[in-house]
Amino acid sequence: MCGIVGYCGPRVVSQVLIEGLRRLEYRGYDSAGISIADSQQFTTVKKTGKIKELSAAVPEDIQGLSGIGHTRWATHGEVNDTNAHPHLDGSGKVVIVHNGIIENYEALKSKLKSQGTVFVSETDSEVISHLIAQYYEGDLEHAVIKVLPLLKGTYGLAVMHTSEPGKIVGARNGSPLVLGIGDHEMFIASDVTAILQYTKEAVYLNDGELVAMTKDGYKTFDINNNEISKQIEQINWEIEQIEKDGFPHFMEKEIYEQVASIKRAFTGRLSLDTASGHLGGLDMLPQELHSIERVKIIAAGTSYYASLIAAYLIERIARIPATAELSSEVRYKNPIVERNSLYFAVSQSGETADTLYAMRELQRKGAKVLGVCNVVGSTIARESNGGVYLHSGPEIAVASTKAFTSQLTIFYIFTLILARMRHMAFEDGLEFIKGLQSVPSHIEQILSKTDELQSLARKYYKHTNVLFLGRGLNYPVALEGALKLKEISYIHAEGYSAAEIKHGPIALINEETPSLFIVPDDALRDKVISNMKEVKARKGPLIAFAVEGDTEVAEIADDVFFVPKANELMYPFLMVIPSQVFAYYCAIELGRDVDQPRNLAKSVTVE
Ligand code: G6P
Repeated sequence: MCGIVGYCGPRVVSQVLIEGLRRLEYRGYDSAGISIADSQQFTTVKKTGKIKELSAAVPEDIQGLSGIGHTRWATHGEVNDTNAHPHLDGSGKVVIVHNGIIENYEALKSKLKSQGTVFVSETDSEVISHLIAQYYEGDLEHAVIKVLPLLKGTYGLAVMHTSEPGKIVGARNGSPLVLGIGDHEMFIASDVTAILQYTKEAVYLNDGELVAMTKDGYKTFDINNNEISKQIEQINWEIEQIEKDGFPHFMEKEIYEQVASIKRAFTGRLSLDTASGHLGGLDMLPQELHSIERVKIIAAGTSYYASLIAAYLIERIARIPATAELSSEVRYKNPIVERNSLYFAVSQSGETADTLYAMRELQRKGAKVLGVCNVVGSTIARESNGGVYLHSGPEIAVASTKAFTSQLTIFYIFTLILARMRHMAFEDGLEFIKGLQSVPSHIEQILSKTDELQSLARKYYKHTNVLFLGRGLNYPVALEGALKLKEISYIHAEGYSAAEIKHGPIALINEETPSLFIVPDDALRDKVISNMKEVKARKGPLIAFAVEGDTEVAEIADDVFFVPKANELMYPFLMVIPSQVFAYYCAIELGRDVDQPRNLAKSVTVE
């Protein structure tokens, strides 16, 4: 989604901004722009399309003391150069970049228009530059402080004024902003990846906080202009982690990284001595864990599908009622917070607006909400009442892969802890641990046969509809498989419980609509095979992801991909990997932009 980068310092400002924007490309955007301040004026360049087009349009000899840049993901107004940020006021003295949505912009705009202000864009954001210009009396911090209370909605904001060259003022409400501290240089960004190559020292702003910075330092303060002292945090990601490392796409790199990222997620968190697990970040006493009567998980997108598996697993293995719900629904349904319920907010980015706001609503009603996030220092990670990090390293491809399997890993450990505190025997705990520890090597085996999945993709990529079908723990895997395929290849795909096809989807079956069945060797295998036969009887092409040695499935299906035999609880890990790889190769065959699919954003920071 929209990204912000700003810089004050001696480097070539345009280069720092372009490089920062390039690092933010992964979030998803449709246009971009920069404004550079010299001692008198701004040079502003905005372009629809990719950063390389913006970069080509930036004059080489441009000099600057500071600058702000933006990648826009259109919400108000179509995608064109004018609607791209930065936005200037009429006199060209104020320039802003804005993430978020100003909900009352129409009222503000009509008032400004009636006072003679001329608007050039259709965006909600442009009102901010005009308002700041109107309130400016020689001090940019003061002007911003006066304008913020007039804005309803969300913002991550960076502002410059021609009368104070070399200074950037930033403000945050609902849209992340982080400062990077360098040696006689300062950075501001919506995401640490934009500044990682320059500094590892970061200050995360909270909602309601502002910053004023120049190359020589910064001041953080609140809306009443009271100074706030903030802790400097160390960013523990390395620049190499946000490079492609020889892979053609981040998505492929991240699929392969799962062997290591799953290991990282369980390392130090499993104990063969106690046949249990340990998640320090939960910060809960054994008595507290004992008294849990219900687990409720909120999430969006791929994180939601991981949460559905988690809920299945917790009920089945720990025998505690558990549900997963879409955070966008929880937020507005006036949720009931029951006593002894434990809540989780699951989010790779830790910034998804729906999940963040649903979490706050639950907290207002007295819930304890634990975060399961990947991005360290993200808003959900900071505002949750404890939680666990995935330690997957940066996930850059818009389509989530490694975060999904790490989220599963965390919930498998959590389930083990709960189950061992209740009825699970020591030996069963050991079996569970061994099963989980075997997952990385099983995934390695699957990834050694991706050529088979490439052939499968070559056979099926021309189809326009695909059904993904699974049951039990693997029903959400079918949902996730369908999501992966549709988001990166744009092939229409639906995930269903295999048992549900009789209630509607079977009407779609003909020679043109393949069904991809997920068939682990678990208690529901025979029932899934019956569903496959129902499809075959109607001449639907059949693909199966099955377990090595399953000759019966191989006979029924037109094509089968085998995963290694494993502990039956671990199949969601093993079945999702071929779904990811299949989707990847279909997208490649169709020539799609795999890492940045159209219309999608990595981190959805608006409702
Ligand atoms: C967007 C991304 C998905 C992601 C979802 C939830 O839609 O494109 O890949 O699963 O947001 O994101 P989160 O960061 O909360 O896990």
